[in-house]
This record gives sequence, C-alpha cells and structure tokens, in this order.
Amino acid sequence: MTTLSNPSTPATPELIWFNGEVIPWADARIGVEDRGYQFADGVYEVCRFYNGKPFTLKPHMERLEKSAAGLRLTPPMPVDRIGEEIARFFPRTGLRDGSVYLQLTRGALSRNHRIPPPPYNGTTLLFYAKPLPPPAEPATGEGIKLLAVADERWKRCWIKCIGLTANVLAKSDAMDKGYDEAAFVENAVVSECSTSNLFAVVGGKLITHPLGAKILPGITRLVTLECAAKLGIPVEERPIREEECRRADEMFITSTTREIAWVARWNDRYIGQGKCGPVTAKLHRAFRERVRAETA
Ligand code: PDD
Repeated sequence: MTTLSNPSTPATPELIWFNGEVIPWADARIGVEDRGYQFADGVYEVCRFYNGKPFTLKPHMERLEKSAAGLRLTPPMPVDRIGEEIARFFPRTGLRDGSVYLQLTRGALSRNHRIPPPPYNGTTLLFYAKPLPPPAEPATGEGIKLLAVADERWKRCWIKCIGLTANVLAKSDAMDKGYDEAAFVENAVVSECSTSNLFAVVGGKLITHPLGAKILPGITRLVTLECAAKLGIPVEERPIREEECRRADEMFITSTTREIAWVARWNDRYIGQGKCGPVTAKLHRAFRERVRAETA
C-alpha cells in the first residue's frame, strides 16, 4: 500500500527492466542454463539515486564497460544507452532515494566451461530499484567494526564480477562474530573490504590501496579522492600495512550505499578512541555537499 506522506515508499517496486522491457518482477524468467546462474559468468553494478536524480551514473557505466570487457562480455547496447535506460526507469518505480542493482550475464547456453564464440543467444541484462534510507549525517552513528580476514579472492578484483563467494563468506564470518565488515589481508597488506574500499589516516595523510588487481575501483573511492584533493588533504595511494591499521589515527570505508562510514574498531582495538576523526568528518561533509550539488 502506498503512503503519500513517505516519498521513499515505492509505488511500483515490483517493476524490473528485463532485456529491454519494463515488466512486473514476477514475469521475469531466467533460463536454468544461464551462465550467470551456472558459472557466475557475469558482472554487476550498484548505483544510487538521491532526490530522484542519479549520482555518478556515468562512471558507474564506464566501470560496467570495463568489467564486461574483463570477462570478454559485450553488453547488448552501448553502456551510455544503458545509463539512459536506468535514468528513465528509476522514476517509474515511484522512488526518490534508492539504489539500482544491474546484472549482465552471458545468457543461457548449453553448459560448457569454454566461452562460446559470438554470436550468443543473447546476454541477460536486467536492473531494478530498491529504496534506501536517507544517508547518515557525517560523524554520527556507532562506527564500523572491522575484522581482518585472509584474502581468498581471485586476482582480478577490479572486475565487478557476480562471483562473490569469498566476499560472502568473509562478510558472514565477520558479522557472525559481531563485526560489521571484513577487511581483506594478504602478506600483511590490507587491500579493501568485502563490500567497500578502505582508507586510513596516518600522520595527517590519507592512505588507500592503489587501483589494480587487488581492489574494486570504487566510485565512492574516486569521489572521496576528488574531495581530498579539493580540501588539500595529502593522499598516498599505496598498500596499507596491517600494522598501520592498528595504530591509524582514523579509518573509514566507502561504498555507494554507505558513502563514507567511519571505523570505530579494527579487530579488538579502538581507532581514534572509538570516535569519528576530523579528517573523516571533513571528507564526508564535502562528499555530502557534492551529492547536494549534483542532485538538487
Ligand atoms: N559494493 N569494494 C568491493 C569489494 C565492493 O563490493 C564495493 C561495492 C566497493 C565500493 O564500490 P562503490 O563505491 O563503487 O560502491 C569496493 C556494492 C555496493 C555491493 O556489492 O553491493
């Protein structure tokens, strides 16, 4: 039942954009031999709308194109057209603030590991929207509790691939132990988290792992680095040693759904005495301002 007083209540949340058509959710059908279902042979995106307007949709679509190329997968239409379809679809859901989940797989083909030569029967491209609560005000809330876990992922983490078993297990292990998020560690270096990028503030410098095989090139990470440059905060894009996390002045994670979320704990240690630090708060305020400017 739709309530007019709550603009976030979806009027038609059951709609899905499915292979070029907007249809009721219940009518969407995925083939049993869809390679996404059988091999996790597909990519995804999560982008965000504020106040009915898309935020950083273009870089999300550019990343989609790169992820797809990483799996030798060709989207069924140019990615800027997919972006236009998303922008047209979102208002039809009745939402103002929410996320859009997009998934592209190689489609249904007789089961065989080898990628068949094109043409395929057709990729499966779909997206749908979900409401999100209003973003947290900077420096509020309880802070994220991070648990360090061994990085057991593959070596192409820059691809936003739907094969997320290692992330799913890491996040679940962390949450089962009372933490909020898992931070991946390999050879005493911390790369990123199971669903977010990681930043540390050490001696006034902002440190985050460089792009490449070990992390997803987060769009929120990108905007955060742009905010840091504007604020004159010195940045080092380099591997963060695990030992630095134990004595970091501040830490925060970034993702589309959480923006900038301050970290209160690293394993059993408090970071910044369990309070949001000034650099994190300043960056999140700048981030919020950027959102306001682009989605007013
Ligand atoms: N996760 N690293 C990983 C492993 C992620 O899964 C995500 C996002 C990020 C942050 O990327 P961005 O700022 O572009 O959202 C980093 C999404 C939200 C998800 O899987 O739901």
